[in-house]
Parts: sequence; C-alpha cells; structure tokens
Amino acid sequence: DASDIEKGTYPHYMLKEIDEQPLVMRKIIQQYQGADNELHVDEDIVKAMNDSDRVYIVACGTSYHAGLVGKQFIETWAKVPVEVHVASEFSYNMPLLSEKPLFIFISQSGETADSRAVLVQIKELGHKALTITNVPGSTLSRESDYTLLLHAGPEIAVASTKAYTAQLAVLSILAAVTAQARGIKLDFDLMQELAIVANTMEVLCDDKEEMESIALQFLATTRNAFFIGRSVDYYVGLEGSLKLKEISYIQAEGFAGGELKHGTIALIENNTPVIALATQEHVNLSIRGNVKEVVARGANPCIISMKGLETEEDRYVIPKVHETLAPLAAVIPLQLISYYAALHRDCDVDKPRNLAKSVTVE
Ligand code: AGP
Repeated sequence: DASDIEKGTYPHYMLKEIDEQPLVMRKIIQQYQGADNELHVDEDIVKAMNDSDRVYIVACGTSYHAGLVGKQFIETWAKVPVEVHVASEFSYNMPLLSEKPLFIFISQSGETADSRAVLVQIKELGHKALTITNVPGSTLSRESDYTLLLHAGPEIAVASTKAYTAQLAVLSILAAVTAQARGIKLDFDLMQELAIVANTMEVLCDDKEEMESIALQFLATTRNAFFIGRSVDYYVGLEGSLKLKEISYIQAEGFAGGELKHGTIALIENNTPVIALATQEHVNLSIRGNVKEVVARGANPCIISMKGLETEEDRYVIPKVHETLAPLAAVIPLQLISYYAALHRDCDVDKPRNLAKSVTVE
C-alpha cells in the first residue's frame, strides 16, 4: 500500500518510493477515472481552466520541473498558453499578467513558503488558484480555490520521486479534461496510455542491476556530470541533474542540447559523463548530433533512448510509451542512477546535507 510509511525491507525510503511509482499511477487512474471510463475532474476546475486565457504554473525544485512538462501537456492537448515560473522569482519579479489568468501551484508538501508567498500575492490581486498537492488540508490547498490530489502516499525521502511522476500524471489528466471541455478531440485514450506507463515503470524498476551498473560506470568517482536533452527531454534532464546533485553531491547540470555550443561545452573534458536523453522523435537526430559534439571533446556519453529511436551506441533503451508521456518513464532510470551513485559514494540518501523535506522559509 502506497500509504504505508514504514521502510519495510527497503534500505532507504527513496528506493521504496521509486518502486511505488507503478502503484501510484494505478491509484491515480482509479481516482480520476469513473466506472463509466470517463475522466473525472471537479467541474469548477475544468471551467476555471476553460475560462482562462493563460495558465501560470508556479512551483519550486522538482515540482517546478513537473510544471515544465505540464506546460507541454496543456499547450499540446488543450491549446491553452502556459507560463511556468519559479516561485521565489515570481514574487519579486512578477510578469505582466494576462486578462484572465489561472494560477496552478504544484507542491508535493503544500507547505513550501516560496510558493505560498505567491499564492498570497495573487489572491490579493483577486485571481483564482488551483493547487496540485500530495497533502490534503495543507496550507496551499486550504488557501487555494481548488485542489487536485496526487494520491502518491506519504513521501519521506528528501529527494522527490513518486510525487514528480504523480504530478505529471495529474497534469496530463487536467490537460486532457481541458481539451475535452474545449471541444478538442485527442487521438488516444489517456487512461490507457497511463496504464501502459505504469507497466513500463514496473519494467524499469525491475532493472535495478542495470541502473546500478550505469551509476558505477559513469558516476562512481566523477566530480561533475551533464544531462542533455531537447524538448521535454531537456526538462527531464533538469530533474535528473537536480536528483543527482542533491543526493550524491556531484556537480550536475541539465542543458538543452542545442545550447551546449553557446558556452557549456567548454566544460567538457576527457571522461566527463554526459547523460543524453533521446525519447522524442522530432529531435532524435539533433540530440545525437549534440552527443557527437561532446564525444569529440572526450565526453563519456550515456544515451538513454526510447524503443523505436534506439541505435547501437545507446546505453539503455526504455520500452515505448506515448511520446508526450515519455518523461514519466524516462525519469525513472535517472532516479535510480542517482540513487546508486549516492549509495556508492556513501551519501546519506534519504537525508542529504543542508536540505529539508519541505522548505517552509522564504
Ligand atoms: C526535490 O527532490 C527537492 N527536495 C525539492 O526541490 C522540492 O521539490 C521543492 O522543495 C518543492 O517542494 P514541494 O513540492 O513540497 O513544494
């Protein structure tokens, strides 16, 4: 049961929470799908989405990274423009708002002070807010007009894993119901695709030995590491790099593949690990071009691709899922690789230094 907060036979909460992701997916499907097989999201929320001319997603850390992918879902499927903002920046540098903005706060804990500060500000301006959170009754949930729950069960490890994929799943459902309300017909069944994602997650979680060997091959002794990707793969790379740096203390950065040549490529030395994601067909060739560029400077490339796009040089191939939902699958190898890197570097996986589970100071 996802709500069991004991570690059981697991050495760390993080590993347990990574493994719970298929179960959380199924729970979300169950919670948001009625017996009639229709998507069920509170009518007021669908109406608020439909009425708004622009959605502003506000969040921090991993939840911010989920927001970046959520923007893709909402813009691609529901055709509503979306901006994604880091909460601590938004409060001091508020963008010009559209006429009918809707705010979405994404927060696992629902207690993050930076996000709450923005909520207070935008409520004072008279705007409506939806909070997507794992904790019913949390501050952000109570102070927002609407709430969507993640149903991920308690997340104890400081490094967020199952909350991230739950956030993506709930955002995808929100995007799909908004599309429906706007008369846009999607050419796939989201719940069926999420069920496929759940099965794929299980396959990935069963492949721990392989993830551990990747961690040992690329990250056992390195001082730094880069994650590159294009389109949503870039966003997943940002999340992979945050995961790695917070628990293994390896200096890790996520970059858009095409941006490397504008500066970052100067950091590539002999054996610098570069983890490249290739799950998106329209950028497959260009990200592979970027890999060639870093390899020419001595990088040690680890390409993680999706079935159908793979080549012989790839280190790991993820089974095929719906292309837009690829981040839900692609993040799992990155979570596990970070976990094993931290483990082999003798780091305190569940309680990394200098960090708190929920950041309640601004
Ligand atoms: C993730 O691994 C982090 N520990 C952190 O970035 C976290 O996602 C961030 O502090 C936001 O927390 P929240 O989702 O509870 O608001």
